[in-house]
Amino acid sequence: MSKLEGKVAIITGATSGMGLATAKLFLAEGAKVVVTGRSDEKLKATNEELAKIHANHFLTIKADAADVTSNKKVFEAAQDKFGKVDILFANAGVGRFMPLSDVTEAMYDEVMNTNLKGPFFLVQAGLPYFNEGASIILNTSVSNQMGMPGASAYAASKAGLRLLARVFAAELSAHKIRVNAISPGPIDTPIWGKTGLPEEAVQEMGAGIASQVALGRFGTSEEIAKSVLFLASQDASFVTGIELEVDGGMSQV
Ligand SMILES: NC(=O)c1ccc[n+]([C@@H]2O[C@H](COP(=O)([O-])OP(=O)(O)OC[C@H]3O[C@@H](n4cnc5c(N)ncnc54)[C@H](OP(=O)(O)O)[C@@H]3O)[C@@H](O)[C@H]2O)c1
Repeated sequence: MSKLEGKVAIITGATSGMGLATAKLFLAEGAKVVVTGRSDEKLKATNEELAKIHANHFLTIKADAADVTSNKKVFEAAQDKFGKVDILFANAGVGRFMPLSDVTEAMYDEVMNTNLKGPFFLVQAGLPYFNEGASIILNTSVSNQMGMPGASAYAASKAGLRLLARVFAAELSAHKIRVNAISPGPIDTPIWGKTGLPEEAVQEMGAGIASQVALGRFGTSEEIAKSVLFLASQDASFVTGIELEVDGGMSQV
């Protein structure tokens, strides 16, 4: 029996990396999946990828995760197409890394609006659309537990998100809605090419980070997707408010 048969899931920022891998796995596990992205070109490519798994069980929507006015639109479209929502994976996020001295207000706002404010109001917008017993998963980061140089705004956004998982879990427990965070360690995704840093600096940073991972490597999007599936499914029916570290031991060892 598939783990998500008959479930309706929304995944934000699913045009690459962990979001896309999770969308593919959820579809394969029987869910109907609504995915968002902000680029027409990437949404078209995502459409083609997902159609290979199940042509009629997904919907792609253009929506900026940092724009709170688009949240309602996403839930309305999901409900119109597939019915009420059982799973929300708030995954869309940006990584910007700079020493404190170089962080601009614009960069700070971009990170906070996409990684913290966006998911906050996304969950709020979803309240009328969630089924009882829904599962919400927020994508945080190992950086919210560590003092990684250059990660100030990013780490703060993810620490805020981790805290939201606790408070939302408390507030939504009356509706049997579970809220958890997933905390990836370094994962090999396109995000590393979008940091704004020169390629050489990214390579150097990547090597430094990998050396701090007990398992000695970057993880894969598929490894994250499997853990998101656990939190989304009935396998995690007694799990709420946690942050699940999927980081090769980086935050623990
Ligand atoms: N990779 C890592 O090592 C790592 C570690 C810990 C946590 N994370 C977190 O994991 C999540 C997924 O990242 P990833 O590594 O899979 O990177 P990714 O491949 O860049 O995926 C991020 C996705 O979010 C989308 N996105 C970004 N800003 C958006 C916005 N304003 N509106 C709509 N979509 C937006 C991206 O679209 P575009 O391509 O159009 O930007 C992309 O589809 C992020 O929240 C990230 O912070 C990543």
